[in-house]
Amino acid sequence: MKFTLSHQDNKSKARAGVVKTDHGEIQTPIFMPVGTAGSVKAVHQRELLYDVKAEIILGNTYHLYLRPGLDILEKAGGLHKFNGWSKPILTDSGGYQVFSLAGTRKIKEDGVMFKSHIDGSKHHFTPENVMDIQRTIGADIIMAFDECTPYPCEYGYARNSMEMTHRWLKRCIDRFDSTESKYGYSQTLFPIVQGSVYKDLRKQSAEFIASTNQEGNAIGGLSVGEPAEMMYEMTELVTDILPTDKPRYLMGVGTPANILECIALGVDMFDCVMPTRNARNGMLFTSEGIINIRNEKWKDDFSAIDPAIGGHVSTFYSKAYLRHLVISKEILAAQIASIHNLSFYLWLVKEAREHILAGDFAVWKDQMVKKVSTRL
Ligand code: GUN
Repeated sequence: MKFTLSHQDNKSKARAGVVKTDHGEIQTPIFMPVGTAGSVKAVHQRELLYDVKAEIILGNTYHLYLRPGLDILEKAGGLHKFNGWSKPILTDSGGYQVFSLAGTRKIKEDGVMFKSHIDGSKHHFTPENVMDIQRTIGADIIMAFDECTPYPCEYGYARNSMEMTHRWLKRCIDRFDSTESKYGYSQTLFPIVQGSVYKDLRKQSAEFIASTNQEGNAIGGLSVGEPAEMMYEMTELVTDILPTDKPRYLMGVGTPANILECIALGVDMFDCVMPTRNARNGMLFTSEGIINIRNEKWKDDFSAIDPAIGGHVSTFYSKAYLRHLVISKEILAAQIASIHNLSFYLWLVKEAREHILAGDFAVWKDQMVKKVSTRL
């Protein structure tokens, strides 16, 4: 993997760059649609490519390891061959999913024992086997095994958790460096900054993560219930420390406004379930603001969902028709709403990139944050 910084904004910390992988290039800042179990819910791979214009998608180690399992993924020749997505893929390590199984998991220095949410069977994740699993899944970018610190969290817990994440990272790097990709293309490991909402811990974690000198870095443990201002403060503190010549990935963030604010703080990569999950509940993100399509007011609004962003689905179908599909519980509702929301997120980061390159990002961002946060 190679990252080239194309332009640095001079009124904010925003950057435009290019990440080169063996499965193609990613223009940053970028949003990565979440495909937990090897599929972005309700969206075909062809639609992801041609309508949404996704450049990279996410998969999840926890889910893919449990189902379909490593035998099948290896027999298929890796996740790209299995699901037919030939552009870059990033897998999260399972750190986040395993820890959200409160009550059915035990954390120890060696790793985490957990019970499958599918059949209750017992499994053990360690930094070493999570590297091996991600080698078998075959994503281009793989994530270190970490503990996503819950919020709120006492200082002592946050410090111990961060220190364990750092010890686990050393084990991840040792295993990653002593193993090879299974399918003939290269893989890159991203370490993850933790430290909850404590400035000294975040600083310590960012310095440690930077010192491991990996090809990209991630910021975890945010957007877990803390106020947005706190998330921005922690993000800025960390991006000020992480190296400028490597991509920075803010995990699990966020709303369109969160993404714009964090681009301004120097973040290059984002992922979040919000565009797809909220689509399935009838919430649409548009260039004019947020729509609850179930609302009566849209029942005879025959205007396109969002003509400004282009793309077949957003310009072809009307709000009234989509509302009818949602109210009637038609499967097509989830498809149209998901494709639209993802198209909007990809449009937003592309616009951000163009404004960074044009030199007027900061002014555009402030106007856009207001627009995209409006409830229509
Ligand atoms: N997704 C959102 N936040 C996190 C995090 O802190 N760690 C991991 N592994 N995944 C995440």
